[in-house]
Amino acid sequence: MRATTLPSAAERDEYLLPRDEFEKKRLILQQTVIVRQFGNRLLAPGVELEEGDHVLDVGCGTGIWSINLAARSPQSVHFEACDLSSKNFLDIKPLGINNINFSTCSILALPEEWTGRFTVVQSRLMHASITVEEWRQGFQELMRVLKPGGWLQIVEIDLSSFYNDGLDNISKSPVPPQAELNAIWSEVVKNAGMMWELEGQMRALVTEAGFENIKWESKVFSTEGGDASASNAGQGNLEDDTLACMVNVMRSSKRTITGTGKISGERFDQNIEAMANGWKDVPKTEEGRGWRWHFFSAQKPLHSS
Ligand SMILES: C[S@@+](CC[C@H](N)C(=O)[O-])C[C@H]1O[C@@H](n2cnc3c(N)ncnc32)[C@H](O)[C@@H]1O
Repeated sequence: MRATTLPSAAERDEYLLPRDEFEKKRLILQQTVIVRQFGNRLLAPGVELEEGDHVLDVGCGTGIWSINLAARSPQSVHFEACDLSSKNFLDIKPLGINNINFSTCSILALPEEWTGRFTVVQSRLMHASITVEEWRQGFQELMRVLKPGGWLQIVEIDLSSFYNDGLDNISKSPVPPQAELNAIWSEVVKNAGMMWELEGQMRALVTEAGFENIKWESKVFSTEGGDASASNAGQGNLEDDTLACMVNVMRSSKRTITGTGKISGERFDQNIEAMANGWKDVPKTEEGRGWRWHFFSAQKPLHSS
C-alpha cells in the first residue's frame, strides 16, 4: 500500500488544491457562503477601517474578499492582495477598482517595506497551504507587517469537525462516501505536517506569536440537506450554496486524494455524487448539520515595535 504522503518537496509548490477556472468559481461561491453565514460580515466585530488605512489579504486566491471589502470601505483605504500564485487573480479593471494592488509573495517572506503598515491582515483558508512549523514563521511575518494595535483575521473551515475516525470506520460515519474522502485527506494533511485539529493548534500558534485580545467565533454552516445541483453561484438559497460549497471543496481535492493511490478516480467521482445526497439523512444537531467554520481575530499589542 502506498503511504499517504506527498511525493516530493517540489510537489508542495504545486499546492494541494488546483488553480483553474473551476477553483476560481468555487472560491467566489465560497466567499458568498462565508459572508452570509457569518452575518454579512467581512471584518471581525469591533474592527473598523478609517481613511488611509492599509489592508493585507494574504493567500488571497481570487482576491474576492478584498474586492468586496473595498466596495464597502472609503476609497482612500489601500488593499494589498497577495498570493504565491497569480493564476486565480480576478481582473479588477472592468470593475473600476483602483485601490487594490495584486502581487505574488509568500506568507513566509513578506516584503520588508511592509513592516508596521497594515491595520488589518486577513489569512483565509490557508491551513492546507503551509505546515504547522511554517505557520510559526507566517504568524511572525503577519505580526511584523501589522501596525501596533492592528488586527489579524483568520477564517478556516474545520474538516476535522465532520469525521475523524480513519479509513477503517467509514461505514459508521453519517455520510460514508464523504468520510472516505475526508479520511484520506486527513492523512495527507497530517503526514505533510499541516494543521488538522484546527481550533486548538491555531489558537496555540497565535498566542505563541504574541497576539492578544484573541476572539474566536465558531459556527456550523448548516446545509439542512439542501440541493447542491440547484445552486447558482451565490444566488441560490444559503443552504443549497453551503452544500455546494462543501461538495466543491472535496471535488477540488481530487488530484491530491487520488494521487495517494488509495482511491480510484472513478470511485472518487461516485463518492462526490453520493455525498451531496447523503447529507439529507444526517440527523440535525441543535447547531444544524454541516461542517464547522472558525472566524477569529487577534490584535498586535499596542505597545510593540
Ligand atoms: C484555499 S485558497 C484560499 C484563497 C482565499 N484566501 C479565499 O478565501 O478565497 C488558498 C490560497 O493560498 C495560496 N497559498 C498557498 N501557499 C501560500 C503561501 N506560502 N503564501 C501565500 N499564499 C499561499 C494558494 O495559492 C491559494 O490561492
